[in-house]
This record gives sequence, structure tokens and C-alpha cells, in this order.
Amino acid sequence: MNILAFETSCDETAVALVQDGRRILSSVVLSQTDVHALYGGVVPEIASRHHMEAVADLTAQALREANLERGDVDAVAVTYAPGLIGALLVGVGFAKGVAFSLRRPLIPVHHIRGHIAANYLSHEALAPPFTALVVSGGHTLILDVRDYTEMRALGSTCDDAAGEAFDKLARVLGLGYPGGAALSHLAAQGEPSAYRLPRPHTDNPYDMSFSGLKTAALSILNRAQMKGETVDKAGLAASFEVAVCESLVSRTLSAARELGYENVVLAGGVGANRRLRQDLSAALKAQGQALYMPSFSLCGDNAAMIGAQAYYEWLHGTRTSLSLNARACQKIEARIIM
Ligand code: KG4
Ligand code: ZN
Repeated sequence: MNILAFETSCDETAVALVQDGRRILSSVVLSQTDVHALYGGVVPEIASRHHMEAVADLTAQALREANLERGDVDAVAVTYAPGLIGALLVGVGFAKGVAFSLRRPLIPVHHIRGHIAANYLSHEALAPPFTALVVSGGHTLILDVRDYTEMRALGSTCDDAAGEAFDKLARVLGLGYPGGAALSHLAAQGEPSAYRLPRPHTDNPYDMSFSGLKTAALSILNRAQMKGETVDKAGLAASFEVAVCESLVSRTLSAARELGYENVVLAGGVGANRRLRQDLSAALKAQGQALYMPSFSLCGDNAAMIGAQAYYEWLHGTRTSLSLNARACQKIEARIIM
């Protein structure tokens, strides 16, 4: 089954063709980060406009690169939630038009479910159940993934997402936007014990909090600036990265232990962080569990992951009419049938 998938929830316009949920026939991603970097963050209205300008050409490119004709498309899939509402609406509107004109079914996909499904494209034999840690610019969740379409959040961030915290510190360190990868690069040259940063506690053992940690790091920078002292930027980046990773690793480990599944899956943009990949993998191995991670190119937003999840949503009976609406917020447990 060939699924034509669209992803426009934030600042990447992405179109892909995916076969049977596991094989990428083509995947094109146009990032708008250069545009938003001018403002130090995503400007929703600008994101929507750029999606509108790009989506038709990217669709033609995706079909060309997959060597397929329009008639070879069996179904259309689109991210309908969560994300920037204007940006989502562009993808949803366009996907509806394509589904209508091709007379093909339309499958709505939750963005975070898509991030998890990126792993099905990288690991042929991987199948639920598993524990999942999803870490992106907008979300941080620990999940019990019982089946392809049946999942439950055990914990989430109480404030900032992990990627958002990385981006905020990176911005004040002058590393540009989004600065998660650059911060991690700088951290590799620093000493993780250079600064003492807090390890936030939460009532629910699987919830996380990153805003206090971010504030502590920013205070170190502000204090030094007021006193005219220089800051060991690489040391601060390394101390911050270790604090974030410890928070994520310790909670994922205990969730994985409690759920008792053989496998754990990492997903989302911050899943490209090398320290997180190494530390989580080593810690899980020590307790007899295996970690699966998407290839680096599938960690960030893309449409192939939406096409992968759409296949399993389809098998489970999920489809929608052309009255589908986008939603800025939607729980991962929600299922749409219209
Ligand atoms: O999943 P994603 O592409 O978009 C959202 O759905 O939010 O994640 C983007 C986030 C950004 O915050 C970015 O800074 C972060 O992932 N990120 C990283 C790394 N690569 C990307 N954070 C830490 N280390 C990295 N290597
Ligand atoms: Zn994402």
C-alpha cells in the first residue's frame, strides 16, 4: 500500500511516499529554520505562508523521486495534531484536496505517534509493545506503547520540553536557532562537572521539568555578565546537557523496568543527541533491555514517519472524512474516526 504523507505541524514542510508502513519510497523535507532564525524562534504566521508556498512543488518532487504516478497512490495521510494551528491547517487542507481529487481515503495522524513510527522505518523487525521516550522541541513524553495504535502517556514535562530548554540556552549562548545540535556540539568540548545545576523533582515519578534547570543556567550567565567574569561556555553546555540527559534517562529506566517490555524506543528531534543515545542505551543494556533509535535523518520532523504510522492507523480502521479539522492540542491516546 503506497501512502502519500504530509507533515506541516511546525517549521518543516515535508512530503513522503511510504510503502506498507516500512519502506520509504521518497521523503522530501524543506526546513524553514533559516527564516525563523532571524527572529530567534518560529513565527507561526510566517511558517504557514511558507508551507503554502512549498507544499505543491514538494508533492510533485516526492512523486518524481519515488518514480510513481498520482494513480499509484493508495491513500493520503496528514498530521492533524498537535502543532501550530495555522501550519497544521495548510497540510490538512492540501491533503484533503489531494485525497478528494485522487478519490483516495484520508488518514489523520497524530504527530507524536509519527515520531515513534520513525523507528519502524529504521528497524524492520521492531514491533510493539515497548516503552517509548519522545523528546522534541515541543514535547517530552514517556509512553507505554501497547500496540501500533494503542498507547498511554506515563509522564510528560510539567513546563518546557527538553528541546525547548536546549534551544533557549543555545540562544543566549549565541548559538542561533534552533540551537540544540549546536549546544550539544559545544558540550562535547566541555567538562560536565564544570557547573552545579539542579536535578528537578516531580510528584509523578515519570514527569519531568526543565524550566528550573534552564533558569539556573541562565542565572549563571547573567551573574557572570554583571560581575564582568567570563563563563566557561563549553562547561556550562556540558553541565546542562548532562542534567537534561540524567533526568530523561533515570525516568525512562524506571518506566521500562516497571512496564517490563523487552524493548525501549527513543524518538523526536532531541533523539539525535549523542549523549542521550549513548547514556540511555548503556543504562538500558545494564538492566537487560534494548534501545531502538531512528536514524539521525528521521529524528527531526519528516513526512515518512507520518506515512509509516498512517499504515498502522489504516489497518486499525482509522480514517476521516473531508470535514477533518486540525487541532493545536490533542492527547496521544485520542483516536479519530469520522
Ligand atoms: O522533533 P523536532 O524536529 O520538532 C518538534 O516536533 O518539536 O525537534 C526539534 C528539536 C529542537 O528543539 C532542536 O534543538 C532539538 O530537537 N535537537 C537537539 C539535537 N538535534 C535537534 N537537541 C539536542 N541535541 C541534538 N543533537
Ligand atoms: Zn516533531
